[in-house]
Amino acid sequence: RCVVVLSGGLSHERDVSLRSGRRLSAALRSADVMVEEWDADSALLSRLREHRPDAVVIALHGAEGEGGSIQTVLEMLDVPFVGADSHACRRAWDKPTAKTELARAGLATPDWVVLPHSTFRELGARPVLDAMVDRLGLPMMLKPEQGGSALGAQVVREAAELPAAMVACLAYGETVMAERYVEGVEVAVTVVDGPGGPAALPAVEIDPSTGVYDYTARYTAGLTTFHTPARLDARSAAAVAEVAVAAHRLLGLRDVSRTDAIVAADGTVHFLEVNSSPGLTETSLLPMAAEAGGRSLADIYTGLIERAVA
Ligand code: DAL
Ligand code: MG
Repeated sequence: RCVVVLSGGLSHERDVSLRSGRRLSAALRSADVMVEEWDADSALLSRLREHRPDAVVIALHGAEGEGGSIQTVLEMLDVPFVGADSHACRRAWDKPTAKTELARAGLATPDWVVLPHSTFRELGARPVLDAMVDRLGLPMMLKPEQGGSALGAQVVREAAELPAAMVACLAYGETVMAERYVEGVEVAVTVVDGPGGPAALPAVEIDPSTGVYDYTARYTAGLTTFHTPARLDARSAAAVAEVAVAAHRLLGLRDVSRTDAIVAADGTVHFLEVNSSPGLTETSLLPMAAEAGGRSLADIYTGLIERAVA
């Protein structure tokens, strides 16, 4: 059996993806799986046609890996792959879509406003920014409505910081999602499909030394302290697991996903986003969750490969 681990690509998260791909490939090899590591480059289509791998594991991040593009290609070629289908990926990848879906189902998610770049041209920057502050308060978060690894995401503490933060955020996409800032414990919960349906691994608590879990805090060893399992009481631990499984189900995700959320002081779990191709690097959350749950990366992914080819 030949399994291809696909990583790299052209997104801003290329380096992260290469690191995810390397780690996953090493884990699979240690479990005696025959693995080829492919970069998602311009030769990908012809390579897939020619080699027809038995299964593809997507360690690609960014729009290609999480926005449904690569999934569409694999679906068209009828190549089995690990992870959600193209439709579910597209919905999870777009943060406002995912939040709308979950809010509709009654889950808590911080209030948000979507601001296409054109809004500023049409209305002028000042009134738009004032209206945002009125609605969401300060501090607030700015995030590209699609994106990963916190690239372009900004914490805005003062109204005077908004214009520059907006420009920094717009560098990563044409539409900004402004979101109310929720104080609390930041957690990530991995969900893995198994014979009994989707099940949550122990939550990982994120405690960045600078207070902000940005790109550097994510991928520089030692900059962030992780508590696995998260230091939550039993009720909150159950609540975050429930939210992650609900997000996985409601968005139609498959095999594996990771939900990021904040647990506020009153115990409310605020859904932030769900990742259909979670990072697998040395500092990523899924491998930590696996370890805390008594499972190895190899064990999880060999199981998912078996499901994909079945
Ligand atoms: N976007 C990165 C890879 C993550 O969520 O882990
Ligand atoms: Mg993400």
